[in-house]
Amino acid sequence: MSYQECINCHTKYGIDEIVYFCKKCGDILEIKMDMERAAEAVKTGDHKKKAPLSVWRYRDFMPIHEATNVVTLSEGGTGLHRSERLGEALGLTNLWIKNEGENPTGSFKDRGMTVGVTKAVELGARHVICASTGNTSASLAAYAARAGIRCTVLIPSGKIAYGKLSQAMIHGAKVLQVRGNFDEALEFVLKLAEKHRSIYLLNSINPFRIEGQKSLGYEICEQLDYDAPDRLIVPVGNAGNISAIWKGFSEFYKLGLLNKLPKMTGIQAAGSAPIAKAIKSHSNKIVPVAEPETVATAIRIGAPVSWKKALNAINESHGTAETVTDEEILDAQKLLAQVEGIFVEPASASSIAGLKKLVRNGIINKNERVVCVTTGHGLKDPDTAIKMSEKPVEVDAEMSAIENALGIKAQVAVIQR
Ligand code: F0G
Repeated sequence: MSYQECINCHTKYGIDEIVYFCKKCGDILEIKMDMERAAEAVKTGDHKKKAPLSVWRYRDFMPIHEATNVVTLSEGGTGLHRSERLGEALGLTNLWIKNEGENPTGSFKDRGMTVGVTKAVELGARHVICASTGNTSASLAAYAARAGIRCTVLIPSGKIAYGKLSQAMIHGAKVLQVRGNFDEALEFVLKLAEKHRSIYLLNSINPFRIEGQKSLGYEICEQLDYDAPDRLIVPVGNAGNISAIWKGFSEFYKLGLLNKLPKMTGIQAAGSAPIAKAIKSHSNKIVPVAEPETVATAIRIGAPVSWKKALNAINESHGTAETVTDEEILDAQKLLAQVEGIFVEPASASSIAGLKKLVRNGIINKNERVVCVTTGHGLKDPDTAIKMSEKPVEVDAEMSAIENALGIKAQVAVIQR
């Protein structure tokens, strides 16, 4: 049987107990997977027979009862793209992009929500809630609609990208725009879920979300034929995803499916980088940033809730963390779009910007096998993309005007008899 466990004092909680923080010490929880069940699935190869590459291919690795119907929109199974042109531009020979924008609502959050909302329904919840910088709210709204349950999302007023807002709205969530930042909105939902026990909290503090997201690590292993990359680079905001991916790799390692583990490398925007700062100063604590600021609104977070798990993932894997400026993020977004055809939102591009900086600083060597995770689709934030791209040229509806605009000479038509 799998169970929940406090990451600090290791107090155990049942898999069907609704508890967000340890009742003894107040720290956050993680799921301890049923290793016997997982090992059996590996032995029989059952997980591969069950489904194509996707979150639910790993059903035997998920803390969901066997009889439960899952709430799914076909999440996971995203592309791992060999990126030769980008690699060449950065001086790398073995670069890959795991593009999470290919998920149903356009971000990696769907991996966590399919498991989180399935658990919510299993527990009998009829109302789910989250605070979000945008993607979590878009994803929760979609999965709640799919499950036919009520959804409330709290977002920072005026600071989330339009694509994401439109998703939460069209899926019928109750959208509350809080006059404050993400960290403040999160404080409110945590208190609300404690006070009103019928509302089920689905921020990444909920360890069932992390279980879904760990499939990102599993998939990369399978896509690389069970040979882990040397390094995994991922943007970090609230720090759930880096923790989840590390959990996935570590579990495959413990199951004997891998013989090495990647160096986990977290990238944060310079204006909201408490984790990168802690890593650089060899501290085992973070100093929250009171007023986080960055163009990458998805990771505009000053007090990441899963900071301890993230520091652990980075340190245990001998990885690192880096900061990138808004300008570096936007340059990387454009570069990726133009040399690889992969359009990602600014927060996602921070993994590419971080890669560029770490290569430049000699931390990453040119033959390392690097996987960069791009976390959200570019259409989430079309305004930023339009602002930084070459403007369209308006032309008269005439061939000569079009040829002029293209800088090609008008040719005299040869009339054939
Ligand atoms: N990239 C994107 C596109 C995100 O939306 C987020 C987080 C992250 C990276 C960082 O992941 O928080 O697990 O470290 N977005 C959350 C949200 C906070 O509300 O949508 P993390």
